[in-house]
Amino acid sequence: MKYRTLGKNGPEISALGIGAMSFAEFYGPTTEENSFAILSAALEAGVTHIDTSNVYGMGRSESAIGQFLKDNPGIRDRVHIATKASITKDEDGNRCFRNTFEHFESELDGSLKRLGTDCVDLFYAHRRQPELPIEEVAGNLQRLKDKGKTRAIGFSEIAPSSLRRAATECHIDAVQSEYSLGVRSPEMGLVQTCAELGTALVAFSPVGRSFLTDSPLTLEAVEEIGGFIGSNPRFQEPNYSANITATDALRAYAKELGVSTAALAIGWVLAQGNHVIAIPGTRSTSHFAELVEGWNLTLSTEQIARIESILPIGWAYGDRYSTVQWIGPERYC
Ligand SMILES: NC(=O)c1ccc[n+]([C@@H]2O[C@H](COP(=O)([O-])OP(=O)(O)OC[C@H]3O[C@@H](n4cnc5c(N)ncnc54)[C@H](OP(=O)(O)O)[C@@H]3O)[C@@H](O)[C@H]2O)c1
Repeated sequence: MKYRTLGKNGPEISALGIGAMSFAEFYGPTTEENSFAILSAALEAGVTHIDTSNVYGMGRSESAIGQFLKDNPGIRDRVHIATKASITKDEDGNRCFRNTFEHFESELDGSLKRLGTDCVDLFYAHRRQPELPIEEVAGNLQRLKDKGKTRAIGFSEIAPSSLRRAATECHIDAVQSEYSLGVRSPEMGLVQTCAELGTALVAFSPVGRSFLTDSPLTLEAVEEIGGFIGSNPRFQEPNYSANITATDALRAYAKELGVSTAALAIGWVLAQGNHVIAIPGTRSTSHFAELVEGWNLTLSTEQIARIESILPIGWAYGDRYSTVQWIGPERYC
């Protein structure tokens, strides 16, 4: 099992975390009991890192985690909880991003209440507010650390140049970014800059929102779920079928190796650096077992080369977000 230091001098956390966006029905229906089962399985397996946000189900994900902690006294000290804020609505109800200290603090206070804890372990600016210089935003995050409301701070989806600027203000413990065999853009500087600055790179959607598993979402399921995934370009035809065909070859290779495809996807992400943490999400304990398999998998150089020849950079059909998902009200994460 791989445990990694968060940032420069942070705590040791499991290199596999659990992404709790799925607790808020982002990828289909679930129940609080189901989320508790995932959290129990995670603890039993030795997974200590939980990733959530104030916007996942508008507090539903955090509330489920909070209830689990309440029902299981003594667990809080064994888990490392990360949450985020900044995605909100303006006076006209349009989606916008706020990075002021006041916004962060009031949203974090709400998260602490739902989680039933005095302090989170990691707090991210979920999205940049473009009008504010990133140095100022880093300072706002640092103030929350100084006030004892979070032990560490980070950004989500920022460029390497922005990270460098933020790091001139204070140490940035983590940067979260979509990173998987289907999204290799962090290799254009972010993976390297994080390593250089002692910042953890937390890879979200590491199993490509199901494409990099043995049972990708079906088109029928995608239509039924709707929302973000229902209008995501990679899950629209003809891209969807092309992506299934492309990833069939990875499924065949996983079979050859006698492991699950999800395990190969997680194993590949974790092989990208000792500062990389993967946070897949699931509503299923059997799927979770496959993710744990990936956490424990050590791939050889030859196996990594083979995986990258099966799914070379740029294989995926469709952008990872639609235009409106980059900026619009449809995007919740
Ligand atoms: N910072 C950000 O902006 C941001 C954006 C997106 C996500 N995140 C974080 O990253 C976490 C993970 O990302 P994600 O949930 O979008 O993507 P993901 O983990 O790549 O994919 C989740 C999807 O894959 C399926 N899946 C997972 N393991 C599977 C397995 N072994 N076999 C078959 N299907 C499997 C899940 O279905 P089942 O439920 O049926 O298993 C779900 O449909 C989120 O929970 C959230 O905490 C952050």
